[in-house]
Amino acid sequence: MVETRVIDGILGAYQNDAVNLLQILLKVQSVEPKNYVSEEVAMYVANHLDIPISRVYEVVTYFAALSHKPQGKHVIQICNTTVCQLNGFNEVLKWFKDALKINPGETTADGLFSMKLTPCIGACDISPAIKIGTNVYGNLTKEKVEEILSELRGAIS
Ligand code: FES
Repeated sequence: MVETRVIDGILGAYQNDAVNLLQILLKVQSVEPKNYVSEEVAMYVANHLDIPISRVYEVVTYFAALSHKPQGKHVIQICNTTVCQLNGFNEVLKWFKDALKINPGETTADGLFSMKLTPCIGACDISPAIKIGTNVYGNLTKEKVEEILSELRGAIS
């Protein structure tokens, strides 16, 4: 688990207010080495916000951007809702599967990438679309997928 003073800093930045639970969890997850909300962290946050741990888990399980399992440094969320389904979701999924040798719900052996399916990410106008972190990528082609992956690999120090 990340140091508690780091979590305290995040909680403080959001006024220790449970209204900001989603933002708090996203931020906490981003500083966790394995990019997830562990049981220990969920308990710590729940205690400090004085809310039931079940509420933390409701948020973690509802939002595709959060995870209660360890994830790769980069989480590739592939939209599988109708418009993307019609515009090439199957090809996009295949390109990522071929490039990373993993299936949705899995993480690459080097811990760099996880892949998951997600409902509409609000980018239907540029579908097929994916989201990685806060970045949305659309009008995907095989070349574009390769470019995105090599940029992300290059960004890792
Ligand atoms: S259906 Fe895929 S972004 Fe909306």
